[in-house]
Amino acid sequence: MDSIRIAIVGVGNCASSLLQGIEYYREKSEKDAAGLMHWEIGGYRPSDIEVAAAFDIDARKVGKDLAEAIFSPPNCTTTFCPGMPRTGVSVRMGRVLDGFPGHMQGYKEEHRFVLAHEEEASREEIVRELEDSGAEMLLNYLPVGSEEAARFYADCALEAGVGLINNMPVFIASDPAWAARFRERDLPVIGDDVKAQFGATITHRVLADLFQRRGVKLDRTYQLNTGGNTDFLNMLNRDRLASKRTSKTEAVQSILEVPLDDDEIHIGPSDYVCWQKDNKVCFLRMEGRLFGDVPMYLDLRLSVEDSPNSAGIVIDAIRCCRLALDRGIGGVLTSSSAYFMKHPPVQVRDDDACRMTEEFIQGVRDD
Ligand SMILES: NC(=O)c1ccc[n+]([C@@H]2O[C@H](COP(=O)([O-])OP(=O)(O)OC[C@H]3O[C@@H](n4cnc5c(N)ncnc54)[C@H](O)[C@@H]3O)[C@@H](O)[C@H]2O)c1
Repeated sequence: MDSIRIAIVGVGNCASSLLQGIEYYREKSEKDAAGLMHWEIGGYRPSDIEVAAAFDIDARKVGKDLAEAIFSPPNCTTTFCPGMPRTGVSVRMGRVLDGFPGHMQGYKEEHRFVLAHEEEASREEIVRELEDSGAEMLLNYLPVGSEEAARFYADCALEAGVGLINNMPVFIASDPAWAARFRERDLPVIGDDVKAQFGATITHRVLADLFQRRGVKLDRTYQLNTGGNTDFLNMLNRDRLASKRTSKTEAVQSILEVPLDDDEIHIGPSDYVCWQKDNKVCFLRMEGRLFGDVPMYLDLRLSVEDSPNSAGIVIDAIRCCRLALDRGIGGVLTSSSAYFMKHPPVQVRDDDACRMTEEFIQGVRDD
């Protein structure tokens, strides 16, 4: 099969895990490939994915071959595929806009972004790079709160005629005006804000659903998360957090037939603990009432490496996006967005989203 050519904006920890995974599974067979939801999607395997172009703004990444850039600071996720071969793709300087959070200046360079001196790319240069590279879709991995930058790159994708997978919580696929623009251009879009393979959101949603199905009244809940990567460092700035909180909270509220009062639910990134690096720890508490209004409490601690957890989903989102391109389908992919993302345009329970996605893959549905 043809390779699937992707472009990446934001060569951070998530991109690192994704690229390592593409290489890692090249050496595997279906039988011994752990950690994937699908070995093949419409005939495409993980190793059919190839990076055509990449943009970043960090001095330690811009100008480097991707295989080197993904292991450059401040990236700190685990290396599960050492000895990555050179890709022949150099990271290009992007456009900064609001991608660089000012509060990071107060931290050591090894833990934060360092702005490259290269001249910023113009919109025309980014569009041309997308076109000339033969990229078919753009993956957005910008930091939370990059409202302007996310829209800027989404616009570039539209102009270059490539699909978009929006892995972060600036609302594009779930914004009707943006969704309409992708539909008009016949380009697929999957978004917004990737829902990790086995992370806090999916766990919280499944448990909320279980409470409901077993007749247990959920009275209140919290989900506190800590981590030590740049994603968590960035989110120390509360001004950048609004859409992340909305995305994470709605992901759980949407499961409940009667959503909780705002005072009874607290979900969000809670603190930056430098030594945790890319390990994310989630503390989840749910308080409910069983038969006879008798109280019950659930406390759960989930510890995961954050970035491979997102790559396990994005590796499927890319292949679904390619299926849409192969079939001439444009606009929001409702099924993939509901299954792979926290803040899709249409929220459904995860087992329904799974079924819808399988139907899409089989060609039974076209969104
Ligand atoms: N890890 C997960 O499971 C998960 C889940 C949901 C959402 N996300 C989201 O995915 C996004 C990426 O996460 P990450 O951990 O890779 O973040 P990261 O901080 O490791 O990487 C962000 C990258 O973007 C670059 N950047 C900043 N501004 C830019 C600009 N204007 N143009 C080009 N590049 C720019 C930075 O230099 C950095 O390399 C975040 O928004 C995160 O919240 C991650």
